[in-house]
Amino acid sequence: MAPRPELRQVDEASYDGFARNLDRTFGFDYNPDEDTFRPLIEFERAFAHFDQGTVVSTLGAFSLEMTVPGAVLPCGGTTVVAVAPTHRRRGLLTELMTTHLAEVRDRGESFAALWASESEIYGRYGYGRATKSADITIKRQAPTLSRHAPEPLPVRMIDPEEAKEKVPTFHDRFRTGQPGMFKRSEPWWEHRTFSDLPSRRSGYTAARWAVVDDRDGGIQGYARYRTKGVPGDSHPASEMVVWELFASSPEAWAGLWWYLLNHDLVVEVTARLRPSEDPIFDLLAGPRRAQLKVTDGLWVRLIDIPEALEARSYQSEFHGVIEVHDPMGLSGGSYELEASPEGAQCRSTDKDGDIILDIEDLGSIYLGQPGLRRMARVGRLSGDEKSLEAADLAFGWSPQPWCPEVF
Ligand SMILES: CC(C)(COP(=O)(O)OP(=O)(O)OC[C@H]1O[C@@H](n2cnc3c(N)ncnc32)[C@H](O)[C@@H]1OP(=O)(O)O)[C@@H](O)C(=O)NCCC(=O)NCCS
Repeated sequence: MAPRPELRQVDEASYDGFARNLDRTFGFDYNPDEDTFRPLIEFERAFAHFDQGTVVSTLGAFSLEMTVPGAVLPCGGTTVVAVAPTHRRRGLLTELMTTHLAEVRDRGESFAALWASESEIYGRYGYGRATKSADITIKRQAPTLSRHAPEPLPVRMIDPEEAKEKVPTFHDRFRTGQPGMFKRSEPWWEHRTFSDLPSRRSGYTAARWAVVDDRDGGIQGYARYRTKGVPGDSHPASEMVVWELFASSPEAWAGLWWYLLNHDLVVEVTARLRPSEDPIFDLLAGPRRAQLKVTDGLWVRLIDIPEALEARSYQSEFHGVIEVHDPMGLSGGSYELEASPEGAQCRSTDKDGDIILDIEDLGSIYLGQPGLRRMARVGRLSGDEKSLEAADLAFGWSPQPWCPEVF
């Protein structure tokens, strides 16, 4: 029998094989000249299986600072998970995840998070779906703003150089108030956000940047979008895809959305990775014009439950025992949580659980998207009605968690 592939840390020398396995598994051709992951890799957090010297699996992690309700915490951002088609279903992913989650724990990160290529994969490793992600499509025939919408602020198109100056400062302020968002490091801005390789545009134009100016010389919102001509008759027509749209005032939200929806010759606008409760639904006179496709977004895996639960804020009081089952044997146990808007204490206990759930489902409510009573209705978890209701209220948060970026 062939020897089992060996799992070890990746280094400079093995990076090429790592990248090739990753791109092959995801269906791309590796091009070292256009490798935007290389400047971001944290080698001490990257692992691979080697089969007689050939890389046949990969997993990496970003050391993220992620916003949770009322706080910003270190988080292990699980990424680049790929097992070669020749080596699937032999337990390689399970071995990678076990190593990765132990590493997250040893670093003192109280949780990990990821985007899943397929939503069947990560529940077994304790990740729960913690945010929703929506694609919103609006046909552009004469949308009108609601009579309650504020006067839209004027919008200015800027070039990428000015965007590099102004956008990161705004984003850094915005993301600290939005659970599910994370800090972009300088290499992240350079190699992910501002990198605009023609080969990655799928026929769309270069990125366009539009901003609403602030009085202090900064901005109070921006949008990043592209357009692409649509085949049809001989008249020019195009569709628009919006990759980012953030604003810090009602007038700036209205200004940016109104600007995007009022592009002559654009027949359809699709905004990707939006919150399912996007401001556009409150701004439009006819909200049904905005068609919504919602899927799971970010998945969260709690590692140090007392630390994670004490670090976040709560909307109302909850006092009870949460019994957590963890099939991986990492974080399970019973935890007494005393939480209120003033703060929280959480400790291990041998008391009976008022709420009994899997680690996956605790992860799914952690960022502020409540759902315990909903999950209890279909038997995913159990608990007395009073505790479930109190926990749903306490764990809920406004704004709802949203992660506008796949990593
Ligand atoms: C998804 C992927 C990483 C799984 O790797 P793997 O080494 O085959 O997984 P394992 O053998 O360790 O499987 C562990 C368990 O997960 C299950 N599983 C693995 N992939 C699955 C999938 N795509 N859908 C449903 N279940 C899956 C296995 O059946 C197994 O279940 P069991 O423990 O009950 O037997 C691999 O198929 C792959 O790389 N796919 C393409 C890239 C991708 O989707 N990566 C994920 C990026 S987020």
